[in-house]
Amino acid sequence: MPRFSKNIANLRSSEIRDLMSLATAPDMISFAGGMPGNELFPLDTLDKIYNSLTEREKQIAMQYGPTTGLPTLLESLSDYLEAKGLPLKNNRLIITTGSLQAIHILAKAFLDPGDSVLVETPSFIGALSAFRACEAELITVPLNGDGMDINQLQKRLESTATKPKFLYYAPNFHNPAGIIYSPEVKQQMVALLKDQEIPIIEDDVYSDLYFYEEDVPRMQLIKTMDPEGIDVCFTGSFSKILGPGLRLGWMLVPESIYRKCELIKQSLDACSPSLSQVIADKFIREGHIHSYVTQVRKEYKKRGLAMIETLEACLPEYVTFEKPRGGFYTWLQLPEECDATAVLKKAIEKGVVFVTGKTFDPDGIRNDHMRVSFCNTNVETIRCGVPIIAQAIRDIFEKA
Ligand SMILES: Cc1ncc(COP(=O)(O)O)c(C=O)c1O
Repeated sequence: MPRFSKNIANLRSSEIRDLMSLATAPDMISFAGGMPGNELFPLDTLDKIYNSLTEREKQIAMQYGPTTGLPTLLESLSDYLEAKGLPLKNNRLIITTGSLQAIHILAKAFLDPGDSVLVETPSFIGALSAFRACEAELITVPLNGDGMDINQLQKRLESTATKPKFLYYAPNFHNPAGIIYSPEVKQQMVALLKDQEIPIIEDDVYSDLYFYEEDVPRMQLIKTMDPEGIDVCFTGSFSKILGPGLRLGWMLVPESIYRKCELIKQSLDACSPSLSQVIADKFIREGHIHSYVTQVRKEYKKRGLAMIETLEACLPEYVTFEKPRGGFYTWLQLPEECDATAVLKKAIEKGVVFVTGKTFDPDGIRNDHMRVSFCNTNVETIRCGVPIIAQAIRDIFEKA
């Protein structure tokens, strides 16, 4: 019997990953994944970019690169992020292998076994796994429609015996809850954490995918406010705005944290894929990123609105949800103490898959929610698949 580490015992298989095997069955309608639509990738542009590379650029693309990223991409990405108001001048940027790696690196930088971290409930499963892998204790703060419950955050801060090492949160089009944090909640978080030596990890992979321009001002990131007295570690990604297959993300952090993170990244994978970095750099420099994001934003809005419309038409009145205003997800609330897994089993029998709420519960218990994604299914499929979910809910709760 292999003698595995204690560390590995803390890792739980994600229900999302387990379900992926079902989601790939040819006739299964999948509302499970959090990935871009396959048919939306800018394949022609990517072909043209690759074919236009010089021999020298292709050599760079095939070679190891600097741990913190290729200088060309660091430069073009800095301009892209600076235009969004991020403080590039007094922070350092690292290119990472997906933003999930950025979260892992930050977890390794801050956490010893037994340390605690503040997380939202529900929360992005990838981040929870990263913190669990460091044997951290997860202190949960419930999420409301406008962000973290501030009273609960204050209570947690006052009642925990040892000071949490950091707070992790996702500001815009939350995965799974779909919500946008209000400016008031972000300001209150800053006020509570100021001068507490509790850094914030701000995980922002969806904010480019807003449906309504008018939402942009209130989606302001804490990192762009660059508040005094708090280290804000900002993480982002090309995954939702170009393609997760590139495996490229980034972190923007203060100098002292940068130096530790560079060492950790060096020990993990030496550098992120150079080929991806060369392509992403050209994608930004040649100006494709803006037109492409505008195009996919429109398509996700169509899908999101079709999802809302179909849910409103066919869900039983005892199932509620916040209408998404961007991103990839709708988060359905079943009556309390209902079991979303029973609905999932029924839905799978009928050819539809989604993700159950407990996947995103840091305690792995609460299961009265369902995450239904609209990103990787076209409008027609949404109209066809959502009534099947509604029927599965009725089958479970009305015929029980
Ligand atoms: C909130 C959030 N953060 C981070 C990631 C990780 O993305 P990647 O590692 O592909 O950049 C995801 C992916 O689904 C996500 O939903």
